[in-house]
Amino acid sequence: MHARSAKLPDAFVIEQLIQVHVGDGTLLPRSLAEICENIRDFTVVEHDGEIVGCGALHLYGMHLAEIRSITVTSKAKGSGAGRVLIDALLQEAQKQSVTCVCLFTRIPEFFARMGFDVVKKEALPDKVLKDCVRCPRQNACDEIAMYRGTLPKSTARRRPHAAQSYVQIAPQHA
Ligand SMILES: CC(C)(COP(=O)(O)OP(=O)(O)OC[C@H]1O[C@@H](n2cnc3c(N)ncnc32)[C@H](O)[C@@H]1OP(=O)(O)O)[C@@H](O)C(=O)NCCC(=O)NCCS
Repeated sequence: MHARSAKLPDAFVIEQLIQVHVGDGTLLPRSLAEICENIRDFTVVEHDGEIVGCGALHLYGMHLAEIRSITVTSKAKGSGAGRVLIDALLQEAQKQSVTCVCLFTRIPEFFARMGFDVVKKEALPDKVLKDCVRCPRQNACDEIAMYRGTLPKSTARRRPHAAQSYVQIAPQHA
């Protein structure tokens, strides 16, 4: 069993792996187009030439990356595939000189085994501004935020402003 960077031909399998866990809200939906656009974020785990798991590392900046879309096939569960995947994504984060890796999960026990600690969601404003503000469950969130490394002191994302502060329409003269 080994992990490798995903390639475009893996996108369809990745979509199917993720789709299994979308219905119950375990994973956020990812369309095939979105997976293709972000294929360089993805790592897959192979066993006997078959993809048995996938996961992504989304980069916000050197201060933060997020592990997301983590799943292994039901057949491969308990075989160590999950650990291989997380180790590979953490290695990628290290390669990119990222100082903090975060994730949101309903299974904190698994990620605690991978060295992650629980943290308040507010400590990860990049993630909150990217996903939570648009999430229908934002006021009834049952996910636990976790991190490894040094919590970021700043955010790379600009908080949303009213449109008029950007768009100044000049009056038209006849
Ligand atoms: C979570 C998941 C990726 C784990 O994959 P896996 O291949 O079964 O995990 P591993 O076999 O590598 O297990 C590594 C360790 O974590 C433990 N573990 C696995 N699943 C666990 C869970 N749900 N809760 C607590 N510990 C768990 C194992 O016992 C093992 O412990 P050990 O190192 O002390 O022996 C897999 O169960 C899965 O795909 N779940 C559905 C999707 C999901 O929940 N994704 C996470 C969304 S945030």
